[in-house]
Amino acid sequence: MNSNQIRKQFLEFFKMRGHAVVPSSSLVPDDPSVLLTTAGMQQFKKYYTGEADALKDFGSLNTASAQKSFRTSDIDEVGDESHLTFFEMLGNFSFGGYFKTEAITYAHEFITSVMKLPISYVTIFGGSHGVVKDEESRAIWNSLGITDVREEGIDDVFWGPTGSSGPCGPTTEIYCRNSMGQDIEIWNIVFNEFFYPGSREELLGGSDKKLQRLSSPGVDTGMGLERLAMIAQGVPTIFDTDLFRDLFDTFPSELDERDHRIIADHARGACFLISDGVRPSNKDRGYILRKILRRLIVFEHRAGEAINMFRAVAPLIVGAYHGAYPDLHLDTILIEWDKEKAKFLKTLKLGLKELGKIDAIDARSAFRLYESYGLPYEILKEMGGERAKALNRIDFEREFAHHQEISRAGAEKKFGGHGLLLDTGELKAKDAQELAIVTRLHTTTHILQQALRSVLGTEISQAGSDITAERTRFDFTFHRKVTPDEIASVETLINEVVRKDMPVSFQELPKEEAQKTGALYFFREKYPDCVKVYYIGESLDSAFSKEFCGGPHVRHTGEIGPVKIIKEESCGAGIRRIRAVLAH
Ligand code: ALA
Repeated sequence: MNSNQIRKQFLEFFKMRGHAVVPSSSLVPDDPSVLLTTAGMQQFKKYYTGEADALKDFGSLNTASAQKSFRTSDIDEVGDESHLTFFEMLGNFSFGGYFKTEAITYAHEFITSVMKLPISYVTIFGGSHGVVKDEESRAIWNSLGITDVREEGIDDVFWGPTGSSGPCGPTTEIYCRNSMGQDIEIWNIVFNEFFYPGSREELLGGSDKKLQRLSSPGVDTGMGLERLAMIAQGVPTIFDTDLFRDLFDTFPSELDERDHRIIADHARGACFLISDGVRPSNKDRGYILRKILRRLIVFEHRAGEAINMFRAVAPLIVGAYHGAYPDLHLDTILIEWDKEKAKFLKTLKLGLKELGKIDAIDARSAFRLYESYGLPYEILKEMGGERAKALNRIDFEREFAHHQEISRAGAEKKFGGHGLLLDTGELKAKDAQELAIVTRLHTTTHILQQALRSVLGTEISQAGSDITAERTRFDFTFHRKVTPDEIASVETLINEVVRKDMPVSFQELPKEEAQKTGALYFFREKYPDCVKVYYIGESLDSAFSKEFCGGPHVRHTGEIGPVKIIKEESCGAGIRRIRAVLAH
């Protein structure tokens, strides 16, 4: 079955079972709390909550769609066998029409009878955060003859909420085997039983906001068309499916397989984003588009002056998808491509010339190229080849942070800043020596906040912070006095992190993405669209602490030295204040 047929069969299957087939919504969602459409359910959020009436709008409580989706979270993974930024999600939805029995039975029938694929195993929610284990789904799967039912946790099999609040609930997933013998998740079936008045990070982080039961539970499912096609067509990667094969014929042989995969992914993403009205810019979704376009421009440039790879592949993409997505607009796509290419190519060439002069590219020289020519890390790494072998993201980002400190301090000096070298509102230093101390205390403050959360619970939140060369002062919400034992535990934890000499780095992300990392931020502060997330640890995922922050920070926690908490007191109703100092 080719992918057009699979898409058609899916929609037919659900139409025959009383579902209204609804066209894909735009990649630019209505919901201002999310940057791009990442799932089929997004256009239906208000039907789950009862704010809108599906019967009135669609003539049915049940719908089905093939939805254009774009996920930036997987962008570094693109190039392997199964990750994409842009993909199509097949889904069926119910807003009080049916629930677990029907949802699982439909999915089982579609996979085993229509697609004629064996199911390797399924997963169910194991129970946590006040939500019970999903024994009901296990029983339904068993009744259909599926006995390999595996329990998973909230990270894997609990969907949503998307954005700053929304419907959410436990899921059951279907895994099928590909031609390489790997079991791949192909279908996620969500039982939206709850509404959560906060973000997913708040839910997972144990915020005191509570899950609320929806008055009628709903169903939301999502199956990646590309992955389903890979399994159905018996090919080893998504790039071997009919959706991609023709595109690869146009790619320059000067580039390798991984490059080709990235080009295929980014070219599709660019075509769909531009057709949905996104334009390259330096913020939000415009920045995402710019990043993928510039990466394509670099590939094209690497392949040779005469190569017009994007102009060759874009018509194929539009041609293949035009039936399903008539909004795709080739002329606009090419106009935007030409504009961005003209703009970027000049600086790219100058930057590459400079790059060519450097024998071994380290973080410092890479940063200089970034600053002067706008060559991002990925491009420097790619174009530098062997010479950029020693370059890594952590060092590059550290260099970035270091320069930011210098330029910030420089700016303060230039503007006189009340005789201060640095005054960010939170940090104050009058000379270089003080700057070094407040920088150490600033990182201490991040560690302190996390240590307080570990010892007292994640319901505490920052209420204020003030750092001078003498001490850090941190205010947080908490309903009682912190006991001397608790203070001692917090202090021990801080000093342990210092002793471990953990790296301190940051990543710059669109605000929405940054919130998804689970990083802490100060609710009273207004943040720009793009923020830095400072983290302490080897990676953002595994970090001990992550916070929205402008810096400056030390590069390793060992630079802080021993820390002492000198005072704990009340400073208003439900607010505590802690002061800590550096021992050396
Ligand atoms: N909304 C669910 C997902 O995207 C189905 O996985």
